[in-house]
Amino acid sequence: MKKYSISMVCTLAVVLLASCGSPSGTSGAGSWVSYSGDKQVERRVDSVLKLMTLEEKIGQMTQFSANWSITGPVMSDDFKPFLDKGLIGSIFNATSVEGIRRMQQIAIDSTRLGIPILFGQDVIHGYKTIFPIPLAEACSWDLEMMRRTAEIAAIEAASDGINWTFAPMVDIARDARWGRVMEGAGEDPYLGSRVAEARVIGFQGGRGGDSLGALHTLLACGKHLAAYGAAESGRDYNTAELSEHTLRNVYLPPYEAAAKAGVGTFMASFNEINGMPATADRWLLTEILREEWGFKGFVVSDYTGINELVPHGVAEDEQHAAELAVIAGVDMDMTGATYIKYLTQSVEEGRVSEKTIDNAARRILEMKFLLGLFDDPYRYLDEKRARKNTMTPAFMETARRAVASSVVLLKNANNLLPISRERAVTLALVGPLMNDSVNLNGEWAGLGDRNKSVPILKGLTEKYSESAVKLIYAEGSGITETSPGKIAEAVSAARRADMVIAAVGESFHWSGEAAVRSDIRLPEAQRALLAALEETGKPVVLINLSGRPLDLSWEDVHMDAILQAWFPGMQAGHGIADVVAGDVNPSARLVMSFPRNIGQVPIYYNRKNTGRPVDLSNEKIDYKSSYLDTSITPLYPFGYGLSYTTYTISELSLDKPSMQAADDSISVSATVQNTGSMDGEMVVQLYIRDLVGSVTRPVKELKGFQKIALKAGESRQVTFDLRAEDLAFYGIDRKKKTEPGDFKLWIAQSSADHANETDFRVE
Ligand code: NOJ
Repeated sequence: MKKYSISMVCTLAVVLLASCGSPSGTSGAGSWVSYSGDKQVERRVDSVLKLMTLEEKIGQMTQFSANWSITGPVMSDDFKPFLDKGLIGSIFNATSVEGIRRMQQIAIDSTRLGIPILFGQDVIHGYKTIFPIPLAEACSWDLEMMRRTAEIAAIEAASDGINWTFAPMVDIARDARWGRVMEGAGEDPYLGSRVAEARVIGFQGGRGGDSLGALHTLLACGKHLAAYGAAESGRDYNTAELSEHTLRNVYLPPYEAAAKAGVGTFMASFNEINGMPATADRWLLTEILREEWGFKGFVVSDYTGINELVPHGVAEDEQHAAELAVIAGVDMDMTGATYIKYLTQSVEEGRVSEKTIDNAARRILEMKFLLGLFDDPYRYLDEKRARKNTMTPAFMETARRAVASSVVLLKNANNLLPISRERAVTLALVGPLMNDSVNLNGEWAGLGDRNKSVPILKGLTEKYSESAVKLIYAEGSGITETSPGKIAEAVSAARRADMVIAAVGESFHWSGEAAVRSDIRLPEAQRALLAALEETGKPVVLINLSGRPLDLSWEDVHMDAILQAWFPGMQAGHGIADVVAGDVNPSARLVMSFPRNIGQVPIYYNRKNTGRPVDLSNEKIDYKSSYLDTSITPLYPFGYGLSYTTYTISELSLDKPSMQAADDSISVSATVQNTGSMDGEMVVQLYIRDLVGSVTRPVKELKGFQKIALKAGESRQVTFDLRAEDLAFYGIDRKKKTEPGDFKLWIAQSSADHANETDFRVE
């Protein structure tokens, strides 16, 4: 029998107090309104809190990272003493059922109250089944698919004993130098908000905390609050210098959407905004997050984010840092040990109130209750379930579909793609990423086994086995190095073939945390390979794998077709082969603009007009907001992506020419037709422009989208309900409202498509 007698005493006490409706439970709750809003849970939390010493409460607010050894997770000696004394609330990176059980047993059997530990992990785009990086998945514009991949990640991770993921990252990203663009949904606040909701619901199993008790869900974490993606120069951890106007109108909406979707936790970001590091920013973490948005879950710092208040220069020492953070609203210290070392003294000396500590500990304990850990701390730990729920054929099939729907076709001269199995052609397959499996999962790839990822070569070889298509392979180049001999081999393969497919791109380490690039072109070695291939005169299809938009201006001119495949995850080879062979018609659309060169970055479609807007048909006119040496437009815009078929949009109409500024809406409809000869899926995009505002408004804003399937030749009417509240923005008075005035509206195939335009008014 499991020996957790102390916790049973605790649990018993909790149950008794709860069922008796203990006055101490209710009075202890004070004005606390819990995340779940469940009074019984509130009472149980309070009954535990009542048993705890100040130090034990602060222990709940402390998280450490487990180390990893060949045989599984081990506890670092640094934090073992805290674990032994019941002074740890959460551990992360403790993977494997066995390793987690070992740590949970210490918490349950050997500590005074036996309070269970909350186990966290960065489960970002899969746990063992690895899906395309989040930026790629967002390009599918398929919210149900993103919900499902988050759900599968949760099923796998929860089966391995993990309770909490540090995802989704919902930071708006406008700067391709920043390596963490790979983890988010790109540059748009509307799309970013919808993706945030889908991922929160996928991880948590529904809106709010009700589903957290199910064995296949994870507590999610919206991160990084706030504007971590606005780091100056794209340099990770750097200062975000932005106005409250931009913060509220562009950067905050996805975090707010995550909060409204019921995300249980948030992570404070490393960066400062307006001179205040987020970790010490009470305005952000309490006034906006809790008081404006009504968030009731708990906030965790980022990794040593509290300690970093000292080098930021707002805290004299770590004790001061801990005080600033807890008062600002950071409930849990990730790995920094500042709370556990200093907050008892800070409370005793009156600089932090015990109520602040109680509130933080309560919020954390509530999540443990909702996850069912107080009822059975071992409920997630079952090796058999872990085996059954890992990398199942159904999960792999979803991963394969996710790859095919995330690959963006950027160029397709002379309809070079698809290459059907019936075509009697010889293909030269080349490039450093053609036979690679290590890089395919990208960064933040959980416990995905990189050796199990399907190389593109393998995918294409299987796809074209017993077909009319013949394949020749030559590597041609490494990621950063090549040799005349290697290039000559690839050139010789190209000469013997009818066409070339080159898989090129970045190493997976070049994006993710602290992975910033100041040159976002392909490395020189790969450019040399591509130039040599072009000289053969054979048509070249480029498959680009990268964690960020690259500068592909040379490739756009010199290559015949380009597929942007991002880091596609484990089913890379199969998903890409499905697209190359035309079994799947590409339907993905960019969620980040691709610059013409690094000098244009940051670049995004929803820019402001300026007082001197350049005429895009003649950018050479002087003294306009333009460049001397390039266009202001991106190489490939937001919302852009080709297909093997063609679509038209027509008959744009509104049910009425105007609407009231409150509680009103306009119904927008248009006819979309698949005018080509292949079935496909199309992302219909609705953009607006608010022509005159009390503050300046972007030249375009996405306000709706629908991904629809259309058979060849089929046409369909799509309808959007555009509500007055969708047009609201924060003005100079910091209030969000819809202003009367004239608007333009487009139903479009990308942010650069102006063909179907109309006007409406808000009265
Ligand atoms: C630092 C990263 O910024 C954050 O996103 C991540 O969750 C933590 N490290 C834990 O790995």
